[in-house]
Amino acid sequence: MKALQEKIVTEGKVLSDTVLKVDSFLNHQIDPHLMKQIGEEFAARYQEAGVTKIITIESSGIAPATMAGLIMNVPVVFARKRKSLTLSENLYTAKVHSFTKKETNEISISGDFIQQDDVVLIIDDFLANGQAVLGLLDMIEQAGARLAGVGIVIEKGFQSGGQLIRGRGIRVDSLAIVASLQNGKVEFMEETSTL
Ligand code: G4P
Repeated sequence: MKALQEKIVTEGKVLSDTVLKVDSFLNHQIDPHLMKQIGEEFAARYQEAGVTKIITIESSGIAPATMAGLIMNVPVVFARKRKSLTLSENLYTAKVHSFTKKETNEISISGDFIQQDDVVLIIDDFLANGQAVLGLLDMIEQAGARLAGVGIVIEKGFQSGGQLIRGRGIRVDSLAIVASLQNGKVEFMEETSTL
């Protein structure tokens, strides 16, 4: 997606060979116009997939997921990372280890918001090692729902998540795939929407 790549080049900051900071439009401040374009792109790619629900994880997945949900006219559910005061029964849970942050969170979704007859599109902001997506997949399986695919805003193609998820035969659509962050420079790979 050209507009996204341009935004990454103009506003992204390469913090190291592995970390890209995109706080000005995705992870802290949000660019609603870009989010709308991202939502439209996911909606176009999944228009034939019969999606009934979008699932993401708090917090930075919520903005792109909500825009896609608006355009696709389906509800958006976000997995919580912290136990909610009002969310205690009928829960699907999964453990998600973050290699980047070196911590493990138990994420959860209420059984009220994911059903056996749902066709789910997962959307998230970053795909790095794939652990967040695996946690969401685990809960979708627990619910007996069907997965349409995984939509990612920025995939770090030099980390293992893309291979891990595609290796399971799952469709992954990444709107920008970063091939390298070496020498402070962002290099992109061709976009894919393949298994
Ligand atoms: P994984 O789920 O693919 O295995 O990713 P990992 O554990 O490595 O990443 C944990 C958190 O760090 C996630 O956010 C992920 O989006 C974010 N992250 C990973 N690599 C980068 C990067 O290069 N740049 C930025 N900006 N973020 C990265 P999170 O903890 O869920 O945070 P948030 O959604 O609340 O913002």
